[in-house]
Amino acid sequence: VILCRFGTSFIKLNNRTIYKNTIPKINGSKLCSTQVSRQANDNTFVPFMTMIQNRRAQASRSILVQVQSAKSYNELYSYCSTIGEVKDMLHYSDNSEQMHFIIVEFKNELDVNKILSVSSHIQENQTVPVQSPFLWFRAPNNKLGKLKQNKTAKLLVENGTSVISEENLKTALSHCTSVSAQIQELYMLTKLNDVGQRLRFITAKQIESTVSGLFPNVCAYPFGSSVNGFGKMDCDLDLVLKLTGHKENENSRLIYHCKAGSGSDRNMNQKNMEVLGDFIHLFLPGCSHVRRILQARIPILKYHQQLTNIECDLSMTTMSGVYMSDFLYLMGEIDNRVRPLIFVIRKWAKEVFLTNNSPGKWISNFSLTLLALAFLQRPLHSPPILPTFNTLVKHAAPSDHFITEDGINCTFLRDITKLKFKKENDKSLESLLFEFFEFYSQFDFENKAICLNEAASISKPEHSALYIVNPLERGLNVSKNVSYDELERFKIEVRNAAWLLESQESSQTYKGLLGIFQNKYNAKYKLNFAASTKHNRLMDVSDLFEGENNESGESHINFKNKQIEK
Ligand code: GTP
Ligand code: MG
Repeated sequence: VILCRFGTSFIKLNNRTIYKNTIPKINGSKLCSTQVSRQANDNTFVPFMTMIQNRRAQASRSILVQVQSAKSYNELYSYCSTIGEVKDMLHYSDNSEQMHFIIVEFKNELDVNKILSVSSHIQENQTVPVQSPFLWFRAPNNKLGKLKQNKTAKLLVENGTSVISEENLKTALSHCTSVSAQIQELYMLTKLNDVGQRLRFITAKQIESTVSGLFPNVCAYPFGSSVNGFGKMDCDLDLVLKLTGHKENENSRLIYHCKAGSGSDRNMNQKNMEVLGDFIHLFLPGCSHVRRILQARIPILKYHQQLTNIECDLSMTTMSGVYMSDFLYLMGEIDNRVRPLIFVIRKWAKEVFLTNNSPGKWISNFSLTLLALAFLQRPLHSPPILPTFNTLVKHAAPSDHFITEDGINCTFLRDITKLKFKKENDKSLESLLFEFFEFYSQFDFENKAICLNEAASISKPEHSALYIVNPLERGLNVSKNVSYDELERFKIEVRNAAWLLESQESSQTYKGLLGIFQNKYNAKYKLNFAASTKHNRLMDVSDLFEGENNESGESHINFKNKQIEK
């Protein structure tokens, strides 16, 4: 029997936990969001790439079935069990709770092939007869009859993608007795869970299987917050699609005939993405709102996968985003305070309008994450919590050696159990949050750059308002997009937050985090911010990649603005 606490009540069904409208408080069950990276109550470290491979394999063993309601699970189980061996079933619904889905994970990938081979299309002349693991479970017709109830059928999770409302979150936080407890609570209630991760890998699998006929070794790697441990329940899915062929084999006398690539790599990439965009738009079930942003330094396709309710950003060029995610994942695994702390910093930045979903001249979640990690490498008053990037490079094993096709050296230690790093810092989350604000309210942004490679601030190589050295490509600034105005606001807000946290200690009206989430400057800024972001709606993550100019020499932002004007 697994018991989970759900705010005020315990819910138990068939010896399995079921949760509705909230996310369990204690991750002692299979609902643990890092289930594939860490087993419950087991602190065994699983390297990033192993976690990715485990999740990919899990997605290959899964189908996603639209059903009438969660109650359909028993019948679906009975039906699927006549074809293969079902391992787990997990239910979720869309935001309006109109559409219901069950992820069916089989014990064996071959069972998925069997299921797909016996599934059918209806009205073939009216639909594009695509075969994919996205299915719907139709009502039984008279010929087939209703299936018997199966006593072994179990639904592991119900409503697995429900996101806690702001109101419920604030109520939960107001019941905590310390800021540290609030930070931990915020993390547990908002982090991406197991169902969210499964759906992201199933969405990636859909793209992969689309092109696998032509490119059997194709791989769609999720990266960014979906996999680096800093993702919220509703985070977007960043994907890089690699068409990878067979490595050249000198002993083979048979060589594939292939078309010669035309034009520059960039040109070819843009053309491929154009075609892929059409494919997604025309053929892929559930995919809509395809937008091609091909002039950016990293061309991307944006689309919405309606069946999994995930916003996707797909690129086809560099793997560096995946290796960057590996680095961030490692940092989160080294110390269990890192993720809760970064969650609260990201939440605070959103609440005080420092960040926004559409990229622009403001600080991004990614830059904010690097600021927090840099702080943890050298807190103000205590020994470091995290090692520097150079320490990871120094300890790298031969198997950690990776260089991307565009020449970026991504070699660093992947197995943190091999890291000899003294953990002497036992500060509470509350102290660390306060120190973070204090650290950046005193930081010399005018002359110094933030660098995670070594434990010292370095002089700014050029005059961007905020300079954060890209740990993988030291010549690049990941926060080049940030304007002087936005940096000024960041400085004001960190000072403000430090002051609010400190002054609450002596005040009667303790609100903890809620106090720093609602400061008096918010309302004033909100209107201006909403107006300024409206014009940047077309921009996307690729614009943030060091803000380089495109081939014609104009910046992406100008280019996009022209497109909007047009
Ligand atoms: P959210 O989507 O806001 O939850 O966070 P995220 O970390 O996924 O950020 P985002 O979707 O904006 O970017 C996805 C990933 O792309 C990041 O985690 C980085 O690995 C990479 N990335 C984003 N911005 C930059 C940048 O300016 N430079 C580089 N080198 N990589 C970036
Ligand atoms: Mg993202």
